[in-house]
Amino acid sequence: MRLVLSPNKAHLILSCTRKLARSGSGFWRDYHEVHPEVTVLDPPNAIEHLNNRQSMLEEVADLNLSSFYEEVCTPRQLVIMKDPSSIPTAVAMAGLTLPLVAKPLVVDGTSKSHELSLAYDEASLPMLDPPLVLQEFVNHGGILFKVYIIGEAIQVVRRFSLPDVNTYDLLNNVGIYRLPRVSCAAASADHADLDPRIAELPPRPLLEKLGRELRGRLGLRLFNIDMIRELGANDRYYIIDINYFPGIWENAWL
Ligand SMILES: Nc1ncnc2c1ncn2[C@@H]1O[C@H](COP(=O)(O)OP(=O)(O)O)[C@@H](O)[C@H]1O
Ligand SMILES: [Mg+2]
Repeated sequence: MRLVLSPNKAHLILSCTRKLARSGSGFWRDYHEVHPEVTVLDPPNAIEHLNNRQSMLEEVADLNLSSFYEEVCTPRQLVIMKDPSSIPTAVAMAGLTLPLVAKPLVVDGTSKSHELSLAYDEASLPMLDPPLVLQEFVNHGGILFKVYIIGEAIQVVRRFSLPDVNTYDLLNNVGIYRLPRVSCAAASADHADLDPRIAELPPRPLLEKLGRELRGRLGLRLFNIDMIRELGANDRYYIIDINYFPGIWENAWL
């Protein structure tokens, strides 16, 4: 297998695989027979696995990466397929704590699939629009770690994220708040003047183990993990999102 290093070529192959994945595996097999010269970096069906916010985090939930020093987990979450009126009961039965981040279940490259909202109170939950994932909001000091996995190489950068939710917000906010698309516009926080406990990058050995495990379980080599560290619990990390091949070429280090 060859690694294509030209940005344009790699993007071309990526868009091909997305289209081909949608056309079904038979089409993909035929294409590969006719064009054996095209490098397959990652199989389309494995890429598709990341297009659903439930299946993308399943592998993380199954990982046993917690050690004496750190814990890696996913926020508690619930999938709602339909019937918004059933959401308050489903949330209560699952024991989820508000506020909840509501995320469209399917990530299909449209901006709508990245329209997230924050639900503060139970009474507003029926206003949400399934199918979606409801995830507990985790305070994390407003900083997100973007971890890029490229084969065995790992790069991590800091990005500004959503601010923490405090007691005042909890007491005074009601309803559903549309969240800004922070993940796309997020400015780099690599040189910001931050509290060192918030700025500190996740430990390298942890990221290496995580990258290795997820590469194997997802069957992919090029992907990105959005990771946050719980405020006040310096060793507890949450993986909130995994994307395939995200903006990799914008990173000068490649
Ligand atoms: N469970 C959560 N707790 C706290 N913040 C979250 C949580 N989930 C998402 N966020 C915030 O929302 C942003 C977007 O969420 P994400 O799941 O990465 O969706 P997408 O990148 O598809 O828009 C994250 O970068 C983070 O700032
Ligand atoms: Mg994201």
